[in-house]
Amino acid sequence: MTEVGIDKIGFFTPNFYLDMNDLAEDRNEDPNKYLIGIGQNKQSVIPSSQDAVAMAANAASKIIDETNRNKIDLIIFGTESGVDNSKSAAIYLQNLLNLNKNARAFEIKQACYGATAGLQMAKEYIKSHPDKKALVIGSDIARYGLKTAGEVTQGGGAIAMLISSNPNIMSISDDSAFHSEDIMDFWRPLKNNVALVDGHYSNDIYEQFFMKTIHDYSDKFNYDLNNLKAITFHLPYTKMGLKALHKILPEFSQTKQNELLTEFESSRVYNKEVGNLYTGSLYLSLLSLIDNSKNLKPGDQVGIFSYGSGAQGEFYIGTLKDGFKDLKRSNSNLKLIEERTRLNVDEYEKVFLDGDLPDGNFEITPNKKARFNFIGVKDLKRQYK
Ligand code: COA
Repeated sequence: MTEVGIDKIGFFTPNFYLDMNDLAEDRNEDPNKYLIGIGQNKQSVIPSSQDAVAMAANAASKIIDETNRNKIDLIIFGTESGVDNSKSAAIYLQNLLNLNKNARAFEIKQACYGATAGLQMAKEYIKSHPDKKALVIGSDIARYGLKTAGEVTQGGGAIAMLISSNPNIMSISDDSAFHSEDIMDFWRPLKNNVALVDGHYSNDIYEQFFMKTIHDYSDKFNYDLNNLKAITFHLPYTKMGLKALHKILPEFSQTKQNELLTEFESSRVYNKEVGNLYTGSLYLSLLSLIDNSKNLKPGDQVGIFSYGSGAQGEFYIGTLKDGFKDLKRSNSNLKLIEERTRLNVDEYEKVFLDGDLPDGNFEITPNKKARFNFIGVKDLKRQYK
């Protein structure tokens, strides 16, 4: 049976960040609440020139080349920061990256689950068309509002994944366990540009869905969870994944518990610095694990837990392939994170408020550090450069 999975991954986040020490001081909170209690050191600050489409183009352009461009005939854009109620972000992206026009290109939404939905659909497609490739995107801006409880869990960025047969980085299990239920833990009514969230309730549901789907996977497919080298989580803030991990740890030996905790630390290095990417968070955590773990080898199995509020959960297994080491060696993700510019709280607040875009036509100054930018609206049509 042909193996299908992630052949390449590209990551992008804009070049500004807010330090959680600065935010805590300004919001009159103990910094340790943010650094330890929430598990975040910094968050990317997203200028208006970097909408979901521009960030996706910046991430995907890193993995598109002449060897794969024309083989991609499926483009799935997972986002909850869509730029139009009708036209999909995938079509904008296809045009910006000069992708194959003989393709299916569309957008999907189920909160932070969108990229996983795309990845699983792409897997099924490539299984029956092994000579083709699919581009799957998770791109979002996590906005909760100034001085809200969720402010410390903001951030943004994009993940782009090339899905292919005989993948370089990770193959994906044929089997998967999933669960969905109508839950009002996090939502964003039409016309709201910040999310509404019941954060503590969301945390409870996330843990329940994690325990249900990981056990369902193990029971239905007779899978021994001791085979897992690591478990990666959707990480809106990194403490959330740690709390879920602690729920399952008592089911393992002490040695295995230590191993899973060590690998979890590697899987949250980048997320602690970037903050919440919504759809991309889980896959940034996977990148973080690959780049930062000192213990991984080809053949290692990684449990992958995806969660989208509202709510959808899914657990599946990834098996590392030889090429994951090349990704690790490239060092480009760390560079992108380390080279960002620190904003003070006033500067961050200004950028945040600029995110409330006016109606009608307007211009936005492009961010020179980014290859692709949203530059405004002309004749009521979005413009990119
Ligand atoms: N030192 C260390 N830890 C501290 C601390 C201190 N000085 N002060 C508080 N903490 C800990 C708390 O004990 C708590 O830890 P726990 O979760 O293990 O119990 C944690 O910090 C957070 O404190 P809490 O009082 O619960 O914070 P809060 O009421 O301000 O809300 C969130 C935190 C995460 C619920 C809130 O930021 C939120 O709603 N974010 C959005 C979450 C989201 O997006 N959910 C949906 C996506 S899946």
